[in-house]
Amino acid sequence: MSKVVIGDATLYLGDCREILATLPHVDAVITDPPYGIGIAANPVRQMHERLDWDSSAPDVDLIKACVDAGEVAVLWGGNYFGLPPAQCFFVWDKMQPQEFSLAMCEQAWTNKKGPAKLYRQSVLSYRKEHPTQKPVELMKWCIDQLGGASVILDPFMGSGSTGVAAIQMGRKFIGIEREPKYFEIACRRIEDAQRQTSLFEPEAPKAEQTALFGESA
Ligand SMILES: C[S@@+](CC[C@H](N)C(=O)[O-])C[C@H]1O[C@@H](n2cnc3c(N)ncnc32)[C@H](O)[C@@H]1O
Repeated sequence: MSKVVIGDATLYLGDCREILATLPHVDAVITDPPYGIGIAANPVRQMHERLDWDSSAPDVDLIKACVDAGEVAVLWGGNYFGLPPAQCFFVWDKMQPQEFSLAMCEQAWTNKKGPAKLYRQSVLSYRKEHPTQKPVELMKWCIDQLGGASVILDPFMGSGSTGVAAIQMGRKFIGIEREPKYFEIACRRIEDAQRQTSLFEPEAPKAEQTALFGESA
């Protein structure tokens, strides 16, 4: 296991089964675990290199540990993990044609209170560096749905889309990823987001500027 700190993000290269228990309780868990449908190894569906991280879904204990790690949790692929009935769930409409052979939408389980919500964005509208990469805008929308969560955890970080969204929205982020290749992609994307966000921070506090004017007058 190794740990990298990039501004407001703390990123772990390692297995969340070991790391989760060492972390503080967070405001929100927003994650996208392997669904166990073999997508990462499927030669027809995968242009990326084929890995086997999606050959099985996390077991019940690991899913429970993810849910318990935060005040509120959002788990994409929530229909695969035997989670309890919930009033609120999120749907991502991928804007695929009816006759298309792949999923037209995805579902997230959440223990948030309130009515179910729908987000719409074409699955073709963004560039992917990970075979099951989620759009950053979708993860920002998830964060918005949860209100003021200031520390967000993603134990199955992949290419770091949740982290990019959290940093762009001025939140703190903790991410865990087991595959070194995806971990590196996540580090780079989150570092870029952190740099972009810092560029927009105000340069000098107002009080200092007033003093400078005062001196030259
Ligand atoms: C569905 S993908 C997440 C994709 C991510 N939402 C994105 O936008 O890039 C799940 C990720 O979990 C990672 N993973 C699987 N088991 C893990 C474990 N036990 N600990 C940490 N990461 C794990 C896989 O390597 C994979 O990158």
